Amino acid sequence: MAKIGLFYGTDTGNTRKIAKFIVRQIGDDVVDIFNVAKVTPEDVAKYEFLIFGTPTLGDGELQDDWQMLLPNLDSVDFTGKTVALYGLGDQNAYGHEFVDGLGIIYHALVKTPAKLVGGGWSSDGYDFEKSKGLIDGDFVGLVLDQDNQADLTKDRIAQWVDQIRGDFGL
Ligand SMILES: Cc1cc2nc3c(=O)[nH]c(=O)nc-3n(C[C@H](O)[C@H](O)[C@H](O)COP(=O)(O)O)c2cc1C
Repeated sequence: MAKIGLFYGTDTGNTRKIAKFIVRQIGDDVVDIFNVAKVTPEDVAKYEFLIFGTPTLGDGELQDDWQMLLPNLDSVDFTGKTVALYGLGDQNAYGHEFVDGLGIIYHALVKTPAKLVGGGWSSDGYDFEKSKGLIDGDFVGLVLDQDNQADLTKDRIAQWVDQIRGDFGL
């Protein structure tokens, strides 16, 4: 088993594509990748190091499969686990609920003993009104906008992976 479990949800494939970029950046041999539509909390529980990725859909809502899984993660003991988050959104069309899904996962995990890393992500360079993914002006994880800023994605991923490398023992 690889030492990092990356769990993503997706409606139209963007968050899966980003998952694959992240895995390539970290190294194929150290990351197992899962679609949350097909997992149980036990799959999550197996990993000491976790990456969770979600788009925001509806009006500031979590992706459907994440909506199903997240409440069930109550059964997972996050003691000793390190978790990093990434979220996708569309800042032009949904500037009042930009990457809210990222914030929804964050606020669920912050109640657990998990060590949350990969936050403090600067909101400079994004143009939006409001986001549940912000704490003290910074995002709680990596934020990507494939609808408007796809050209920035690879550099953002490279920078973020460098940020979490030490926390993930890489
Ligand atoms: C119906 C619909 C609703 C959306 N709602 C939001 C939203 O509330 N906030 C946001 O930041 N992005 C929103 N988006 C943008 C998606 O998060 C974005 O397109 C994302 O890349 C989709 O990822 P996926 O292909 O993995 O499903 C919405 C997109 C669609 C199609």
